[in-house]
Amino acid sequence: VRRVIALDGPAASGKSSTGLAVARALGGGWAHLDSGSVYRALTLAALDRLDTPFGGERVVALADELPVRLVLLGDQFVPEVAGVNVSEAIQSAPVTAHVSALAAIPVVRQWVTRHVRDAVAGHAHGVVVDGRDIGTVVFPDAPLKVFLTATPDERARRRITQRGEALTDDHVERESQALSARDHADSTRPVSPLIPARDAETLDTTGLPFDAQVARIVALARAAFPR
Ligand code: DC
Repeated sequence: VRRVIALDGPAASGKSSTGLAVARALGGGWAHLDSGSVYRALTLAALDRLDTPFGGERVVALADELPVRLVLLGDQFVPEVAGVNVSEAIQSAPVTAHVSALAAIPVVRQWVTRHVRDAVAGHAHGVVVDGRDIGTVVFPDAPLKVFLTATPDERARRRITQRGEALTDDHVERESQALSARDHADSTRPVSPLIPARDAETLDTTGLPFDAQVARIVALARAAFPR
């Protein structure tokens, strides 16, 4: 059995922080891989070196050449561009603004899917993989699939707090609308739209404390991966 936990859900649903906390709580060599970080690393590389609009073939050729890679650092897979860890750089506003368009290109998705599968195959232990299409496309045979949701307002509040900004009604409203727009783009694209796998456990985290959400997934994991 493949030791993969597929963790999918919309933007700012807390997938990455949850995925890392779950991997750490499980211990035993479990690692965390944020597949969105690969789409972001490709976007960062493309913004630096290509003209918009990006052609898929150019992007993947650039990714092979630089290269863009996933590297295991402790218990986390981190994205590298030409040997440089870009975990911080990929959070920039320009990358966030362009990543959905790039993630809608089929050859780009194939490239990312292949690299995520290779990284997991090369890891001797379990991996918590988060993204949008992990349970549906990348690892359809994962023994545990979790789909995290939360209302757009709740996700907007979390994201604003995370950035250390003030939680005004106006700001929440704007952020919530931006998140809804990105959800819409990700859910309605023809290739690998964001939808829960049929056999995924949906976990609505609106009003659920972070620790409780992690504990819930760890309990599901203990049942799915008995030792
Ligand atoms: O989770 P995130 O915001 O870092 O993801 C960045 C973008 O990548 C997001 O617009 C959706 C896309 N993505 C995807 O299409 N499939 C994945 N498995 C992961 C991310």
